[in-house]
Amino acid sequence: MSFLSVADPGPEGLERLVESSIDLKRDPDRYRGMLAGKTVGLFFEKPSLRTWVSSTAATALLGAHPIPIHQETSGVGTREEPADVARVLDGYLDVLGMRVFEHSLLEELDAHMEAPVVNLLSDWEHPCQAVADLMAIAERRPLPGAVLAYVGDGNNVCHSLLLAGTMAGMEVRVGCPPGYRPQAGVVSRAREWGPVSIFDDPGAAVEGADAVYTDVWTSMGQEEETAERLAAFAGFTVDSALMDRADSEAVFMHCLPAHRGEEVTAEVLESPRSVVFDQAENRLHSFGALLVHLLT
Ligand code: CP
Ligand code: NVA
Repeated sequence: MSFLSVADPGPEGLERLVESSIDLKRDPDRYRGMLAGKTVGLFFEKPSLRTWVSSTAATALLGAHPIPIHQETSGVGTREEPADVARVLDGYLDVLGMRVFEHSLLEELDAHMEAPVVNLLSDWEHPCQAVADLMAIAERRPLPGAVLAYVGDGNNVCHSLLLAGTMAGMEVRVGCPPGYRPQAGVVSRAREWGPVSIFDDPGAAVEGADAVYTDVWTSMGQEEETAERLAAFAGFTVDSALMDRADSEAVFMHCLPAHRGEEVTAEVLESPRSVVFDQAENRLHSFGALLVHLLT
């Protein structure tokens, strides 16, 4: 089974994945060396710090061998047809993780491989991030019944949170400018699992929420739209006044990298409510747990 969308394992599979991610965090020695002899290809078309280093480190902890594959040297889709690349890599790898511009490239490789393909971020979803995020919330309170408010761009991170949050029994609210809403198909899929509301007003989205989440306004690959987006997202900065409308125990979340003064103020990012570095750490444990789920 591949992991192109956070919806792929289904609600019970996702719950097990979050539980084992927390277990791996608590007792890494129980998992050390568990995947000795396996190979994990890690392909990146875009920059990365967290995903790159955490997936490499998690692979190493499990005793498997991480193999970096760079687009500049491999030329997937430029030097060679993606379907041919898939059939070649299938002879070498037990898992292929890919960070791509277009989600369709993930689907194309997955269609031509037996080995599971893991989405390390595409223009459509960021499922590994969502597992780490559910972990961060679950470490603090039960997921069912919690309210997650996402403020900002209805992007890849937002899509995975809509699906993961509702699958885990949470209510998910999105506060975004009308031109930057999450895709309707993702919203309707999430609504099959739980309540989803879309607001034009960030304050209305955040009211009484247990977690307030934001991400950059300009994602990788959208750099030419930066000025237009800065204007469109005016008023959507997560600041202390906005956090004050959430529950008094609410946490602030961000997948990072963050742009202080744009989607979040430095004050909120550095506040005791901020769990962003826990989320980042959880990328290590959740990727390890995902590999164990895919390979054992
Ligand atoms: N959050 C996240 O995926 O970070 P990187 O882009 O640094 O991998
Ligand atoms: N939405 C961002 C997430 C980065 C981790 C992007 O795609 O660039």
